[in-house]
Amino acid sequence: MANKKMITLPNGATFPANGFGTWKSEPGKVGAAVKKALELGYRHIDCAAIYCNEQEVGKVFAEVFGGDNPVVKREDVWITSKVWNSCGSKEEVVAACRRSLLDLQLDYVDLYLVHWPANWEHQGLPITETTMGSDADGKPLWSKTNTLQSKWEGMEECSRLGLAKAIGVSNYSSLILMDLLAYAKIPPVINQIEGHVYNQRPELRAVCEANNIHVTLYSVLGSGKEGPLQDPTVKAIADAHGVSAGSVCIAWALSTGCSVLSKSVTPSRIEENFAAEAVELAAEEVKQLDSLERGMIACNMNEYWGFPAHA
Ligand SMILES: NC(=O)c1ccc[n+]([C@@H]2O[C@H](COP(=O)([O-])OP(=O)(O)OC[C@H]3O[C@@H](n4cnc5c(N)ncnc54)[C@H](OP(=O)(O)O)[C@@H]3O)[C@@H](O)[C@H]2O)c1
Repeated sequence: MANKKMITLPNGATFPANGFGTWKSEPGKVGAAVKKALELGYRHIDCAAIYCNEQEVGKVFAEVFGGDNPVVKREDVWITSKVWNSCGSKEEVVAACRRSLLDLQLDYVDLYLVHWPANWEHQGLPITETTMGSDADGKPLWSKTNTLQSKWEGMEECSRLGLAKAIGVSNYSSLILMDLLAYAKIPPVINQIEGHVYNQRPELRAVCEANNIHVTLYSVLGSGKEGPLQDPTVKAIADAHGVSAGSVCIAWALSTGCSVLSKSVTPSRIEENFAAEAVELAAEEVKQLDSLERGMIACNMNEYWGFPAHA
């Protein structure tokens, strides 16, 4: 049975609210995880060039979408990819999108996102550990030429060329978003940001909503960090529903009206996370979960870049 909860974007496109992520899904595991997710009924898969696993994911897409009797029809799955920081000119963005399509074995992505509001030195494609635009220590080499505007022009070109059905951003703060809206000829439809019970982002969500930009929350389980999954309130509500803490975290995130991304390479957890969209939290439980806010940044790029990038 496929995802049931759907999101409708201002442009009329619809996609499943409960999506499946692929960050940190190791080579050799990510393909099996995506296959399991699609077989279970996930119809929303989140990819990115910087995850350095799009080729393995692409093999699974070719397998499940291919042949006379496909497991799933391509057009029934919402697939996202993202342009990495090292591609910031119009031409670099289009080339990056084409490269992701090649690796994913697709003709188009449903959604192409600017991964971060950042431009680093272009070091070629595909994106690997040595071509991601950083120095040998992993610290960003900032581009002296590319701007967020040139990057967005590349995104618009991907849309015009039909490489991406929709375009959007990720990790954009309110200020950068408002600036983008001033020059965008095609406005972004989505802002994908971190969000979970320990970091709920109400202000940024409100700005997005007021500007017709749908919000996708990532790292809804806390991205493997000590946090929401260990919280006593989350656990108590999980016990009351006979589900896991992870399911409660996903159900809370869905209750915000946002779409939601979680990731797992563990088959039992993939099943659990998929089933979480059926968990109905009572208003009082949502209120208790809302009170857990503490501004925890689970996905803190400062750890990787030595730069406070969080929006
Ligand atoms: N746009 C961006 O900048 C950005 C940033 C971060 C994430 N994302 C997207 O959002 C997706 C989800 O975020 P995330 O990967 O950071 O973190 P997450 O989904 O919050 O957490 C993943 C971690 O939780 C574990 N896990 C999964 N299901 C579980 C369950 N039911 N119970 C207990 N543990 C569970 C996973 O382990 P196992 O895999 O070992 O099971 C993994 O360690 C990413 O994969 C990516 O697609 C986007």
